[in-house]
Amino acid sequence: METEAQVAQHYGRAGIAERILAALREANGAGAPVTVEALSAIDHFHGRGIVATQELAAVLKPQAHERVLDIGSGIGGPARWIAAHCGCHVTGVDLTPLFCEAARALNAATGLADRVQIIEGSALALPVPDAAFDCAYSQNVVMNIADKPGLYREAFRALKPGGRLALSNLCAGPDTSGFRFPVPWADTPATSFLVTPAEMRADLAAAGFEIVSFRDITRETMPATIRNRERLERDGPPRLGAHLIAGERLVEAQINSARNAEEGRTIAIEALVTKPA
Ligand SMILES: C[S@@+](CC[C@H](N)C(=O)[O-])C[C@H]1O[C@@H](n2cnc3c(N)ncnc32)[C@H](O)[C@@H]1O
Repeated sequence: METEAQVAQHYGRAGIAERILAALREANGAGAPVTVEALSAIDHFHGRGIVATQELAAVLKPQAHERVLDIGSGIGGPARWIAAHCGCHVTGVDLTPLFCEAARALNAATGLADRVQIIEGSALALPVPDAAFDCAYSQNVVMNIADKPGLYREAFRALKPGGRLALSNLCAGPDTSGFRFPVPWADTPATSFLVTPAEMRADLAAAGFEIVSFRDITRETMPATIRNRERLERDGPPRLGAHLIAGERLVEAQINSARNAEEGRTIAIEALVTKPA
């Protein structure tokens, strides 16, 4: 099976939106409104959840009049949060059909269907016109993609001249031996493609981007990583959490991911780059 099919199979689960909405009703009451805030413990499907999205939005600074692209939009949590808080229109592209289905259902449930559009497709052949977006972002997607130059080339093509791209993802640490699988993005090395921060930077520059900022945030995020791992080990998954997307096995994967970071096998990067005007 080719990589993209394997990735979609890894993430895809039936009934994601139904499961999430049922859990929200149980937690908040049947009549409680479904808002981006109510969903936020569940639908930001990456390490550090909504906090990472807020930090990335603070770096990207989407403006209300801008068209924004989310590359690998998952079930749409970050896209809905940014549309709701920045007032912009967000287009999300994602490979996994069942994630796109869940994202559209949650867009409708939150009343954001006219502000967040979801398109099923590959980051390596973005189904969007050239120079269509003012800015773009991608959170914890590149780890599933072997062809990094292809990914950055497509992001570059989709941006207007002067457009911004914010990235938040894991890179390989200095020694990846003993890497613990499964992790949230992959059960095995077959769909996990980590490069070093230097390689990531070089790939971005080779695609034509100018680097505005490129930060190793491993150390500053480590206390939260450790707290979260300890909570998962002690209490298991919270009532409202990303296991509603990925199943209970996510807990083992999240613990492994934290251990990989703590033991120096991964480095967390937050970057802002621009397409020259
Ligand atoms: C860990 S999830 C992150 C989802 C979302 N960015 C978030 O932070 O909530 C990784 C996502 O990347 C998507 N993905 C992986 N490879 C992709 C590709 N080649 N093209 C488009 N999406 C891809 C997966 O389908 C999945 O939704």
